Amino acid sequence: MWNKMHVWLGMAIMMMGASLAQAADTLPGDPAAGEAKAGLCGGCHGFDGNSEDATFPRLAGQYAEYIAKQIRDFQRGLRTNNETMAGMAAMVESEQDARDIGSYFQKQKMAKAPLTAADKKLVEKGEKIFYQGNPKANVYACVNCHGERGRGKAPNVAVFPVIGGQHRDYLLKQLNNFRAGERSNDPAGMMSDIAKSLSEDEMQAVVAYLSSLL
Ligand code: HEC
Ligand code: HEC
Repeated sequence: MWNKMHVWLGMAIMMMGASLAQAADTLPGDPAAGEAKAGLCGGCHGFDGNSEDATFPRLAGQYAEYIAKQIRDFQRGLRTNNETMAGMAAMVESEQDARDIGSYFQKQKMAKAPLTAADKKLVEKGEKIFYQGNPKANVYACVNCHGERGRGKAPNVAVFPVIGGQHRDYLLKQLNNFRAGERSNDPAGMMSDIAKSLSEDEMQAVVAYLSSLL
């Protein structure tokens, strides 16, 4: 497991390098320009990125580069777990637009409004999985990649998205999609491997914990 972890991280770092090189002619995202372009997205994701409905992930505070990657992945058919969003991504005309929109949402604050009421015991179980994983089942602790309280690591390590404070049902759908191979745009299959090793109960617990983190 530890060896595999090194391969994953090495590949993630290489991929980050590649995406920077590839985008050398594109300017960093401009949040002010992004605000106007993000009007198209607000109806579902919330104009400040704080969607109310768990079908639509919150984008407030998410890393710009992660958002731009997801848009690219939907456009290129690498992320195939939602047709509605694939249609929306097709309307984002350029890499510059994707980055501008991403940096607008990254700048927004995640609302402190409560998401879903969660069972205290389940949340505690989820917290343990988040920080310790499950060595017996080869589940590497989430904190290693997603950072303290799921807040990510840093905007320049945007391969690892912010997942703390996200809607529970959206997170659960992603884990199920990774497990079933319906979402397979994760570098080196690192999330798919983890999702396959989590039990149904562990998934329920960890998403209850994550969505309670506002
Ligand atoms: C009609 C509703 C709708 C609109 C409008 C919409 N989206 Fe989405 N978007 C979705 C849904 C649904 C998902 C969740 C897909 C899934 O289930 O995996 C999603 C997912 C995403 C994700 C992935 C988030 C993550 O955490 O991985 C990003 C990024 C995103 N949308 C960006 C945008 C942007 C940028 C726009 C505007 C150009 C936009 N969306 C417009 C419905 C919409
Ligand atoms: C080895 C690093 C690593 C570990 C450990 C890890 N993840 Fe991830 N996770 C990732 C990466 C990378 C992505 C983004 C994939 C992509 O580019 O689309 C991701 C994406 C996700 C997403 C989708 C987020 C979104 O907004 O759509 C969820 C949910 C998630 N991880 C949950 C977890 C949970 C729960 C754990 C612990 C049980 C965990 N991850 C452990 C690397 C990791």
